[in-house]
Amino acid sequence: MQAKLLNILLNADEFISGQVLSEEFGISRQAVWKTINLLKERGCEIKSVQNKGYKLISIPDHLDDCIINELKQTGVIGSEVIVLDRVASTNDYLKRLGDEGAVNGTLVATREQFSGKGRLGRVWESERDENIAFSILLRPNIRPNDITSITPLTGLAVCKALRQFTGLDCKIKWPNDIVVGNKKLVGILTELSAELNAISYVVIGVGINVDQVIFPREISKKATSIYRETRTYFNKNELIVAVINQIEKEFVDSNFELKGTALKEYSDLCISIGKEVGFTRDDKSMTGTATAISENGELLVTLEDGSVCNVYSGEVTVQGIY
Ligand code: BTN
Repeated sequence: MQAKLLNILLNADEFISGQVLSEEFGISRQAVWKTINLLKERGCEIKSVQNKGYKLISIPDHLDDCIINELKQTGVIGSEVIVLDRVASTNDYLKRLGDEGAVNGTLVATREQFSGKGRLGRVWESERDENIAFSILLRPNIRPNDITSITPLTGLAVCKALRQFTGLDCKIKWPNDIVVGNKKLVGILTELSAELNAISYVVIGVGINVDQVIFPREISKKATSIYRETRTYFNKNELIVAVINQIEKEFVDSNFELKGTALKEYSDLCISIGKEVGFTRDDKSMTGTATAISENGELLVTLEDGSVCNVYSGEVTVQGIY
């Protein structure tokens, strides 16, 4: 009932009378009023005026499953939306649901993440209602070898969505950090559950720094947030919806392949290309110039002797960034 009422209020420009709502839902006006109060408890600001009815003034800023469900325009991603109050890691939580049979597209977001996982064993924490941390479960019908496109396509989608939604000049630092200038705004961690030659599921975790102003000392020089860059508070429900809408579009348009338009867009937005990069190969530190991205999502680096190295994992530093 809350979802249906919210849907009507979201789509109405004017006040809607309690009488109209009670007829629409076949419930008493008292029941309408109770549901309005439940929406207010969720953080919706709803104006009620005698003889006119109800009007939605604003939606809550903190992540809310009902609001996300009403705003999203996706068919698969967010087929099931779960917003947790707090959790250690949305990736771990969703992997447990995946093992129990969670459906393709299930989305788990959290208002607070206290033991989140970053790449290469790092931590990714998210203070209450400050940032966006979410994971999506996919059961794609593709071979394990083709899975390499999922993370870059997600990075591309997040980058495009944030550019459009915030106006920031976001770029991709290979493989999948979204940066503004020389600072990191978004991290993505993809985890796979596969048996023999079949993928059981993929969990894609995305952490977006939204309102955070103070960062731990060890990352304060290389991390930033949307608020820090724009001095604007963007609504987190609208933001996550913009991101998941774009992720779904990117997967559908590309058919899970990093080629053609997707590869061109990724390459155009990739800040690593054309730069001096440093990486490790067989415990040896190497440097070279990043020249392109392969269809497998590898970074192609030309070394001083002219040979080309395909870098497919690990940490790559980019001169002038991090
Ligand atoms: C990175 O190190 O750049 C990847 C960070 C990924 C963080 C996100 S937040 C939501 C999801 N849950 C996790 O535990 N990690 C990912």
